[in-house]
Amino acid sequence: MKKIGLFWGSQTGNTENAADLIVGTLGYETVDSYNISHATVDTLAGYDALIIGTSTWGAGELQDDWYNFFSSLDSLDCAGKTVAFFGLGDQLGYGDYFLDGMGMLYEKFIERGAKVTGSWPVDGYEYSCSKAVVQGSFVGLALDADNQDHLTASRIQQWIKQIKPVLL
Ligand SMILES: Cc1cc2nc3c(=O)[nH]c(=O)nc-3n(C[C@H](O)[C@H](O)[C@H](O)COP(=O)(O)O)c2cc1C
Repeated sequence: MKKIGLFWGSQTGNTENAADLIVGTLGYETVDSYNISHATVDTLAGYDALIIGTSTWGAGELQDDWYNFFSSLDSLDCAGKTVAFFGLGDQLGYGDYFLDGMGMLYEKFIERGAKVTGSWPVDGYEYSCSKAVVQGSFVGLALDADNQDHLTASRIQQWIKQIKPVLL
């Protein structure tokens, strides 16, 4: 059976919690989970299917560990890889940059040749601007532990149903 590699970066634990919920939903036998600060490009290269999770910091900046890893992605060949994204942000506090980090990683993986799955509707979120919105949808699962944490588990369940058949 094909295995999925999940790579996350987290400053205060919210993205890590979401990653744990995703792993629990998919099953430990199906997905290997890595903190991106402990991974190399070769680790990512070893999987045909990737789930990539980041929060956004500063004003529309990548989470620190993804920031440090970002230029390494230039040596990752994503041809033949299917990639799904999830992002954590604060739509009320940072509504001009909501989930920008997810949008930046999406751009980079597309540039590297990845096939992306797992877009998510923008309905039910309040924000002004987001680099993670392409053609009217979020490029991946949009999570907001600051304002809508009660929706996180059900959003993850619904998203996994959508992406699991495509990733495996
Ligand atoms: C100083 C600061 C800057 C932030 N900047 C953004 C931002 O630009 N866009 C956004 O969507 N969220 C922003 N956030 C919200 C975080 O992304 C959010 O709290 C997230 O859940 C943190 O996840 P983590 O603990 O996995 O890093 C910011 C939060 C703080 C405290």
